[in-house]
Amino acid sequence: MHNKELDQTLVLIKPDALKNSLTGYVLSQLSEFHTGLRFAGTKVVNVSRMLAEEHYAEHRGKVFYPSLIEYIRGYLHYPGKPEKQRVIAIVYQGPNAVDKVREIVGPTNPHLAREQKPGCIRSLGTLVPLTDDKGEVVGERMDNLIHASATPAEAEREIKLWFRPADIPPYMRIYTTRQSGGFFYYKDDKLLTAHEPGSVCLLAPGDVTWESDLNALELISRKQPAPCTLRTVAAKYLVNEKGED
Ligand code: GTP
Ligand code: MG
Repeated sequence: MHNKELDQTLVLIKPDALKNSLTGYVLSQLSEFHTGLRFAGTKVVNVSRMLAEEHYAEHRGKVFYPSLIEYIRGYLHYPGKPEKQRVIAIVYQGPNAVDKVREIVGPTNPHLAREQKPGCIRSLGTLVPLTDDKGEVVGERMDNLIHASATPAEAEREIKLWFRPADIPPYMRIYTTRQSGGFFYYKDDKLLTAHEPGSVCLLAPGDVTWESDLNALELISRKQPAPCTLRTVAAKYLVNEKGED
């Protein structure tokens, strides 16, 4: 039986919200008092290119995609200040978590948010013109303060992308986990099962992982078709690893 108390959604407090000291405001808006939702996991993340590209994979190729990647990585709000380039990732848990958070967050476009839902979180966001080499306006960037999963399926994909099982207390986890039986290393976009100089250990025997991650790694290591790419899995296990671009 589906236990609605355990529904989950992913929220990212983006660099523009952090720069404008809106973290407390966002947390208040999403507090248990207002939403009935609780924290199941939180972390401060310096967003690597790999993680940003996986998170926004559906927008690859669009005019605003390059600026979206730079935005979520904090490059636009904290240029040249890597020590400030971060987002706060939060898993909220409770009945109808996805819909409740999206309701308070409001429409994607901050101008529409102000028109259609004054008072929603994104009504405090802004639009930034995007220009080409000649200075012509070719589009706009939506600095909309926070991200929130749009559907339960998206929440599952995103929570598994940003969080390892150990980041979420055992009784709050809803996605199936499995213990790794072997070593998995990552180097230059390749998966290795034995250490090589310069490789990073993604998983060691005994590590608890999302079952879907482990299934994918096993298929990839056998060179069989997998339901997701190596980068999708590696991006999370490399979160906050020094040296990750
Ligand atoms: P998120 O919660 O951030 O995922 O927003 P969303 O679900 O309301 O929108 P979506 O997932 O479609 O887009 C992700 C992000 O891409 C948005 O937050 C915007 O910053 C940006 N974006 C999406 N659509 C557009 C668009 O048509 N134009 C521009 N300039 N940016 C867009
Ligand atoms: Mg979205």
